[in-house]
Amino acid sequence: MQKKILVLGDIHANYPALKAVEDYVSSCRLDWIINTGDLTVYSTFPNETIQWFRERENSVCILGNTDRKVLRISRGKRLKKPRKSEKRVMYFWTSETLLPENLSYLKTLPRQTGFTAGPVRIGVFHGTVQDPDELLFPSSPESRFEELAEDSSYQIQVMGNSHVPYYKIINKVHFINPGSVGRMFDGDPRASFAVLEISRAGIAVEHFRVPYPVEAVVEGLKKHRLPDIYAKMFRIGKKLN
Ligand SMILES: [Fe+2]
Repeated sequence: MQKKILVLGDIHANYPALKAVEDYVSSCRLDWIINTGDLTVYSTFPNETIQWFRERENSVCILGNTDRKVLRISRGKRLKKPRKSEKRVMYFWTSETLLPENLSYLKTLPRQTGFTAGPVRIGVFHGTVQDPDELLFPSSPESRFEELAEDSSYQIQVMGNSHVPYYKIINKVHFINPGSVGRMFDGDPRASFAVLEISRAGIAVEHFRVPYPVEAVVEGLKKHRLPDIYAKMFRIGKKLN
């Protein structure tokens, strides 16, 4: 009994980064591929990114806050946030660009989910089990993790949203954030992800950073005349607005 799970999140339509991760793990036999949400917005490859997951039956995907906003626009609803025009344009451009089959797929995704891997229950959340918009960092109070561990029906809780990788074991619950595949903010633009292994020996988690062709993302932004600020953001790996 050995299960190997690729843990991805916060891809933000950065298909070149997703492909770099795929190439890096190509020699691994993967039982599942988890995606903690935010498939879309801020890079120009939402269709390629969604298509990649649609083609993988062993993927376990949920929605993130950017995906929920794109769906809101597609339903003709107003977008209250973000207010900054250079952010809003990325959401509207994504909504207009998504092919119908990819929009349909996005609509099928839940806000959170759980599945069983061998003897272990794994919960997948964008923020946390209680709040899809919650942001947790390695420095977040241990008491918050203790609350989330209390009566947890999952031995492993996988979360995204903060774009900061961590792995903690609190009160026998394993908390994993893989970091962001497509939009890291720590000054290192390389893609961040994790590999989770469940075996008789126990649970093991390893984080990775892999380089990807950032200029392919910059070219996509230029081609579609999207704000320059995002080219800089991807190049330096920092949040700029
Ligand atoms: Fe995100």
